[in-house]
Amino acid sequence: MTDTPNEQPAQHRLAVIGAGVMGTNITALATGHGLDVTLVDVDEETLTTARRTIRHKLGHAQLMNALPDGRPRGTVTTTTRLDGITGATTVIEAVVEIAEVKRKVLAEASALTAPGTLLISNTSCVPVDEMAGWVVRGEELVGVHFMNPSYLIKMVEVIRGTATADTTMDAVGSLLHALGREALVVNDAPGFVINRLLHPLINRAALLVQEGVATAETVDGLLEGCLGHTTGPLRTADLIGIDNLVDSLQVLHERTGDPECAPCELMLQKVADGHHGRKTGRGFYDYRTATKRNTP
Ligand code: NAI
Repeated sequence: MTDTPNEQPAQHRLAVIGAGVMGTNITALATGHGLDVTLVDVDEETLTTARRTIRHKLGHAQLMNALPDGRPRGTVTTTTRLDGITGATTVIEAVVEIAEVKRKVLAEASALTAPGTLLISNTSCVPVDEMAGWVVRGEELVGVHFMNPSYLIKMVEVIRGTATADTTMDAVGSLLHALGREALVVNDAPGFVINRLLHPLINRAALLVQEGVATAETVDGLLEGCLGHTTGPLRTADLIGIDNLVDSLQVLHERTGDPECAPCELMLQKVADGHHGRKTGRGFYDYRTATKRNTP
């Protein structure tokens, strides 16, 4: 990535595909930085919830002084039609971490956009080189692993694929500059750096609970209190979404063969029970009585 010009946010027209945990995070970040966003999801009810979530996140970002103008200046338009992305200068894919779903969405999205459109995947684990084979212009595709909550965590992991062009790296640098983010660039691999480290750690932490070695509170308390982790692995799992983690671990396991990446029984059971973490009210912890102050 090269130095970025001091561009005005209005030059970016953003479309985000997938209005779940990360689609709403990225949309709140972008509108909070003055960009107009078209947010797409297959499910109308999800979009209704997403609009509420984005308002809540922007309120929280405002309270935390995380908005450059003190208040959001961008707008959000929602649609269930993928062709709503036409005319965007940047498209960010944030659908579920299932390769087949990403393949279909990325192939259709790239066919709908003009050459020169920056195509970003907010992939957790699916390699960028794999995705480059699914799109019309692999040189315009780059991975950006936004963090959660996106408006509070400044750093992002940028994944440069083998085919990613220098001009694409310049374009993503310009976008991240407009979003007030800092980036570290890594080469492509399943899970890249963060999730190749974080996901097996979460899986192992869950396994310790499954084996009765310690409760979730104790595992998190030890990593937070002794090792200085800001958020323990199982609280992090609840924030990410255990359903997403299981999908991501399966992607990692299939592509690396690393047995540490095979999701443990307890995580699989939580997904089967619908206990996906904060987004469903229960995961390793119970959030059903939590106050709004505790749920950014
Ligand atoms: P999520 O499950 O909360 O949301 C995914 C959304 O995609 C859902 O609303 C679903 O309706 C929608 N969707 C599914 N198929 C679609 C299609 N064909 N067209 C349009 N929308 C479609 O998932 P989450 O957690 O937001 O993850 C999204 C991506 O971001 C995944 O690749 C994930 O690995 C990655 N990620 C997740 C993080 C997290 O903390 N949850 C952090 C960083 C990356």
